[in-house]
Amino acid sequence: MDVASLLARRRMTRSFDGTPVEVPWLVRVCEAALLAPTAGHSAGVALGVVGHDRVGEYLEVATDAAWRERSTRYEGWARAGGLVLVSTRVSAYLERYGEPDKVASGLAERDAWPVPYWHGDAAMATMALLLLVEEAGLAAGLWGAFRNVEAVRRWAGLGEDELFATVFVGRPDGRDRPSASLARPVPSRAERVRRVP
Ligand SMILES: Cc1cc2nc3c(=O)[nH]c(=O)nc-3n(C[C@H](O)[C@H](O)[C@H](O)COP(=O)(O)O)c2cc1C
Repeated sequence: MDVASLLARRRMTRSFDGTPVEVPWLVRVCEAALLAPTAGHSAGVALGVVGHDRVGEYLEVATDAAWRERSTRYEGWARAGGLVLVSTRVSAYLERYGEPDKVASGLAERDAWPVPYWHGDAAMATMALLLLVEEAGLAAGLWGAFRNVEAVRRWAGLGEDELFATVFVGRPDGRDRPSASLARPVPSRAERVRRVP
């Protein structure tokens, strides 16, 4: 399937059927996703693979009992076939942009970055992963990193790396309810493509 078709078909999935994904396959897909661009070839993004057998453990760490109790989506997420933790190491970018060919950028200090490339790189690898999962006939759903982030970082042994996102992967079970976010009125894609005056 061509890239345009994959982009059109991909939608976030939040309810899976419990079929485990094969971990060696997911490892291969993650390695392919890391062909995504990386600023200055800093290569600060890492992908942590978690098999189906540990999805429940991840959810225990990443959420709290009250959330699991009230969330109508918890069971669907828990049936993911596996997941990938996308993390990124800020120091890789600071060191790279402090090297002789980059130091004139002034980006060797964290506060100097108007746009943090470590997040840009993480997003690029994440998008590549989403498309590769789609190409394989599976589906994915993404959590941003805002809840229990430190606990997840410790659980996953991320060291100094920032957690960027969690990508749940698996077979959709068809019981997904579209996100309320999709009902929001937003500018169309055509409106967001502008000719620069
Ligand atoms: C950075 C980022 C963070 C997101 N965080 C969450 C999240 O925490 N939970 C969730 O259910 N979806 C999350 N999403 C998915 C968006 O809600 C989804 O992409 C959006 O509603 C558009 O739907 P689509 O991707 O199916 O087109 C996130 C997406 C991005 C790009």
